[in-house]
Amino acid sequence: MHYGGDYNPEQWPEDIWPEDVARMREAGVTMVSLGIFAWSKLQPAEGEFDFGWLDRIIDLLHEGGIAVDLATATASPPPWATSTYPEMLPQDENGSVYWPGSRQQFAPSSPGYRRLAGELVSRLVERYHEHPAVVMWHVNNEYGCHLNADYSDAARDAFRVWLADKYGTVDALNEAWGTAFWSQLYGSFAEIFPPRKAPYSHNPAQLLDFHRFTSDALFECYLMEKRIIRAAGATQPITTNFMGAFKPADYWRWAAEMDVITDDCYPDPNDPQSFRAGAFQRDLMRSLKPGVPWLLMEQSSNALSWRPTNAPKSPGQMRALSMQAIARGADGILFFQWRQSRSGSEKFHSAMLPHAGTRTRTWREIVALGDELAGLPALPASSQEARVAIVLDWENWWALENPDHPVVLDYLSLVQNWHFALHQQNVQVDFVRASADLSGYQLVIAPQLYLLRADGAAGLTAFVEGGGHLLVTAFSDLVDEDERFRPEGYLTQLGPLLGIWLEDFGALVAPGAAGAGQSTAPLGSPLGSVTGTFLAEEIHPIEAVVLGEFTAGRLDGRPAFTRNDVGAGRAYYLATIPDAAGAVTITAHLLAEAGIEPVLPGLPITVEAARRGDVVTVINHGDTPVDLVLPGTDLQRDAPAGAVTLAPFDVRLLRLP
Ligand code: GLA
Repeated sequence: MHYGGDYNPEQWPEDIWPEDVARMREAGVTMVSLGIFAWSKLQPAEGEFDFGWLDRIIDLLHEGGIAVDLATATASPPPWATSTYPEMLPQDENGSVYWPGSRQQFAPSSPGYRRLAGELVSRLVERYHEHPAVVMWHVNNEYGCHLNADYSDAARDAFRVWLADKYGTVDALNEAWGTAFWSQLYGSFAEIFPPRKAPYSHNPAQLLDFHRFTSDALFECYLMEKRIIRAAGATQPITTNFMGAFKPADYWRWAAEMDVITDDCYPDPNDPQSFRAGAFQRDLMRSLKPGVPWLLMEQSSNALSWRPTNAPKSPGQMRALSMQAIARGADGILFFQWRQSRSGSEKFHSAMLPHAGTRTRTWREIVALGDELAGLPALPASSQEARVAIVLDWENWWALENPDHPVVLDYLSLVQNWHFALHQQNVQVDFVRASADLSGYQLVIAPQLYLLRADGAAGLTAFVEGGGHLLVTAFSDLVDEDERFRPEGYLTQLGPLLGIWLEDFGALVAPGAAGAGQSTAPLGSPLGSVTGTFLAEEIHPIEAVVLGEFTAGRLDGRPAFTRNDVGAGRAYYLATIPDAAGAVTITAHLLAEAGIEPVLPGLPITVEAARRGDVVTVINHGDTPVDLVLPGTDLQRDAPAGAVTLAPFDVRLLRLP
């Protein structure tokens, strides 16, 4: 179990370093991420490197028994670099330059940036790959953070090359993008631009390809660094830190090239429900690389500095959220950052060692957690404990949020609505791609799978044919990978499986918006009444049975929720998007039908339970104590768990028979 955080010794005089190491030992720190933003200290000028200070701190850490996750330091190029090569600076869609003075001021496609980053990484890896302290490589930092897309000339040139690689001929691109519409026919790749500011909506296929290109451009930067590290003979695991479900980068693709998934997660202490967002993010991290424990690479010890209001964590909350990560597959808890900065943009951001020193609650909690983690027995790796999976697909995310749709949808919140509903019932959930092998699951939920490739449709179909229960929801299976409707209408791939056809979408007027119309679509069924939102689709059952009907508005009496039995499998369709309560009602029905049990039954609403092998972790995220009767052996007390009063943010780890 790793324990530690980002360590930025370059912000401090060297005479503080020995104290840092001594305090780290006191806190039980086992590993630090070193030098993430140290490029300007490592390379004060082009061709001039200064590794002396890094040598000294790595040796010092090593003497103190603290391992190093060595950063490649490429996330914030030094001022000399961007002054000498201004073409390295990224631009927004209006052509405005993102100037130096902050961080992440690099155009991922810039050949100059890549050359300089590559040189720095080569020097670092040459020098340190055999150092016994270095146990992991931390490539860059949060790729795409702040700068979600770059529209610079470097991006323009690289986008053209990317398109030429993809399509071969410009005619093929014209066909795929449907450029006959609005006189967009291109004569050559040199006529194509990133979707810079235009008078009106861009071609949706161009937007979609630009999302793919943006994810790939960032990914190429990662791969470039990874190749350099491996080519130098380094054998340590290589990672880059993710940011949960982050739209600009398709983490499914990235995960395959990461030795270990690492994640930065900052739930808002002001939001009493943010532990659900935490659980969502952790379940995604576990799912990205099944069977391989991931690391919580960054969290805060206490308050942040980048929200409008930065509440402190409650006493015990940092431990509770750390245990949530471990419960959901993490084998390490690290923080941003070790020692709170004295200057710079993040000086109000909490750290393991606060500015107010070791007499603080934060420090006491940090030391206590280090001690507790050191005392934990080895935990089994997660091994697909979940029987339920939710489809989460980046390409669909990008396409679904393109403009000019019947209604504006926020994919992440729609996916989370289902996860939260299941989490609230303490049902364990994985995330999957539709094309994955789904045979280990009993229930798969596919929210708004607007762009569905043939392999995804085949995966979902095989799942149902193999006896699985599938829920497909409104606005699914509408376009192909080029953002074109498929011939012959909607639901062209899944319609036969679902036993329905779709006539129209029926957008609902947003509550409170001007103009008469419906804001919700109530539907009733034997399982209870549900409030639909956003869309009320007009569907026609062919073979499906109707489980629920709209009960008001223009679709009053028309089918809203259907089921089609395919052998032992079932394909459900929900012709609207339920609100939070509706998602609970519907999932409760589906879970009962599929015979899926919660991790532990009958827990209060603030209590979560997650399973990792034979270990179940129970956490009270509420602000009042709860009385529970727990099964199994209390792992930390080595005694039967039984009746316990779980204080706010308290935790129990249970080994079940
Ligand atoms: C991100 C970054 C860190 C730091 C923290 C602050 O996760 O990776 O460098 O800025 O946010 O919360």
